[in-house]
Amino acid sequence: MLRKAGGIEAMKLLPQFFHSSLGKKYIMAITGLGMLAFVAVHLTGNLQIFLGPEVLDAYAHGLHRAEELLWVIRVCLLVFIGLHISMAVVLTLGNRAARPIPYERSRLPGASHAARTMIWSGSMVAVFVAYHLLHHSAKAQVSLTGHDFATFQTTLADGTTCHDVFRMVVAGFSQPVVSVFYIVGVGLLCHHLSHGIEAAFQSLGLRNRVWDAAVRKLASGAAWLLFVGYASIPVAVACGYGREALN
Ligand code: HEM
Repeated sequence: MLRKAGGIEAMKLLPQFFHSSLGKKYIMAITGLGMLAFVAVHLTGNLQIFLGPEVLDAYAHGLHRAEELLWVIRVCLLVFIGLHISMAVVLTLGNRAARPIPYERSRLPGASHAARTMIWSGSMVAVFVAYHLLHHSAKAQVSLTGHDFATFQTTLADGTTCHDVFRMVVAGFSQPVVSVFYIVGVGLLCHHLSHGIEAAFQSLGLRNRVWDAAVRKLASGAAWLLFVGYASIPVAVACGYGREALN
């Protein structure tokens, strides 16, 4: 009986928690870390481009064969993105309403550039991701290369015919405007993450005086690592890597 009453109390507290500022920050932290995990795993997949067309195309083909898992990841990502953006908007509007006269930028105590511009860098990352999905997932004609990526096919060593992801990526990045757009996009993403990772630790109560310096180093180290990894692909193609696939 007592246990049942406790359960009902907990169920009543849960909506209250998620309506509180702290609850919203928790949701932002958890969804942000979930997306960070995706970005890290996606990078390890993408870096296989340096192992050659056969390896990258076989990897992409393997992913598409696990269609159910792919859909679970897509739905989770959509939910995470939706929650992360809506909580960011609600918290930002709430903060503005509570402080109608904003602090002068220079007077924000100890806030870094990344911290002050989270809502803007986040919005620009959303634009970048939308373009990227049109470009690489929907294979829409947005790469200004004149190629129809949907027609790129290749045959793997075992005789399977599949989509030629290697040629698609090289063709896209052979267009300098696309490469520059990607480098700026991932730069903004990593700028956003450099503060986002710190903020997530803070919201989850995992940051204190002892760990503060370590958390800062971890956040900026991870952001730089991701930036160098992602940017290395368009930079390598600009330097001529993989161009023979276009002949
Ligand atoms: C140099 C940078 C990048 C390259 C070369 C790249 C490459 C690709 C490719 C080839 C695909 C399609 C995979 C396929 O359907 O076979 C893809 C999908 C995707 N990428 Fe990227 N990507 C890059 C950066 C990013 C970044 C920074 C993010 C996140 C912020 C991201 C998020 C996604 C998402 C959400 C998908 C859709 C996955 C799906 O279809 O379910 N990508 N990427």
